[in-house]
Amino acid sequence: MLVISEQDIINAVEPIEYISAIEKAYVIQDKATTNIPNRMHIDNDENTLLVMPGFIESVFGTKLVSLFPKNLEKEEPVLKGVMVLNDAGTGKPLAIINGNKLTAMRTGAVGATAVKYLAPFDSKTLGIIGAGVQAYHQALLISTVRPFQKIIICDKNLSKAEVLKSGLQERLGNIGITATNDSNQTILGSDVIVTATSSYKPVFNTNIENLEKKYFFAIGSYKPDMQEVPLPVYEKLDKVYVDTLHAKEECGDIKIPLEKGMIKDEDVIPFSSVLTSGELLEQSSLCLFKSVGMSLFDLTVAELIYNSAKEKGLGQEVKI
Ligand SMILES: NC(=O)c1ccc[n+]([C@@H]2O[C@H](COP(=O)([O-])OP(=O)(O)OC[C@H]3O[C@@H](n4cnc5c(N)ncnc54)[C@H](O)[C@@H]3O)[C@@H](O)[C@H]2O)c1
Repeated sequence: MLVISEQDIINAVEPIEYISAIEKAYVIQDKATTNIPNRMHIDNDENTLLVMPGFIESVFGTKLVSLFPKNLEKEEPVLKGVMVLNDAGTGKPLAIINGNKLTAMRTGAVGATAVKYLAPFDSKTLGIIGAGVQAYHQALLISTVRPFQKIIICDKNLSKAEVLKSGLQERLGNIGITATNDSNQTILGSDVIVTATSSYKPVFNTNIENLEKKYFFAIGSYKPDMQEVPLPVYEKLDKVYVDTLHAKEECGDIKIPLEKGMIKDEDVIPFSSVLTSGELLEQSSLCLFKSVGMSLFDLTVAELIYNSAKEKGLGQEVKI
């Protein structure tokens, strides 16, 4: 079995390659050979273990992700994980892969894919609310699909926004990057906005009249009582895109507006239907994509990482 570390992942796959793996996931999402059960949430006090198994034609596997919100105070990543990848012909375990990096790269690529197909082509400024691990990877991947001139990083803790700004500036040299703790100004100044916090309460309260043409990609809420997007925003939306329809039960950003009648069941559109239509559906009015993630993304991305690592002689073979 191949053990693939964070550094092996970085050496194995270029950021842009992840976007094709995510597009492949959407294309096979409804195929009979794809079997992706809803992920299991195990809550223990404020901590959560997510168990994310699934099958596609060539491989199957399971990602185990833990979310420990108090790690923020210990300067430890909130999200940690491992992924076991198996051969679909024999069941043989092929690899154990660092799940923190895999998750961050694949979620960045889910953001980039959504922006590629839906966001205004002339988007100039990317705003990111929440300056954690996901924010870095969202900026890295999303900046490959639009010619952004500026990135605004916002965190309630300004020093976190400043640290991320420096790290990103080093990586993305030619884009101007600023740091702030003002989420409303971030939204007003941005064309594409990513929310990547673990907040239970909406992370902005901008007047909805100022949101025309804004494109939102929200990834933070993963429980029914977690919300990043304020309810008045849904008054302006005639549909909401999701990566998986399980979002309707799993996260407050879809479940609460549905329960309050602010959106209807049929207004929640699986993004696979957009992608398989083959058109770039640039949205000219306010647009919201809510991602909760699913094991299907982890499988297509883990397969890409495994094949590239094998080809480049990366990772460590171990007998178990
Ligand atoms: N949709 C997906 O597929 C997916 C994948 C991975 C992670 N996530 C979720 O994304 C969220 C962020 O993950 P992370 O690993 O970057 O976490 P993180 O803890 O590293 O970063 C979150 C940041 O958000 C900031 N924050 C919290 N509340 C805020 C607010 N109201 N306004 C501004 N900033 C605020 C925190 O200070 C922190 O810096 C988590 O909820 C995680 O579960 C989703």
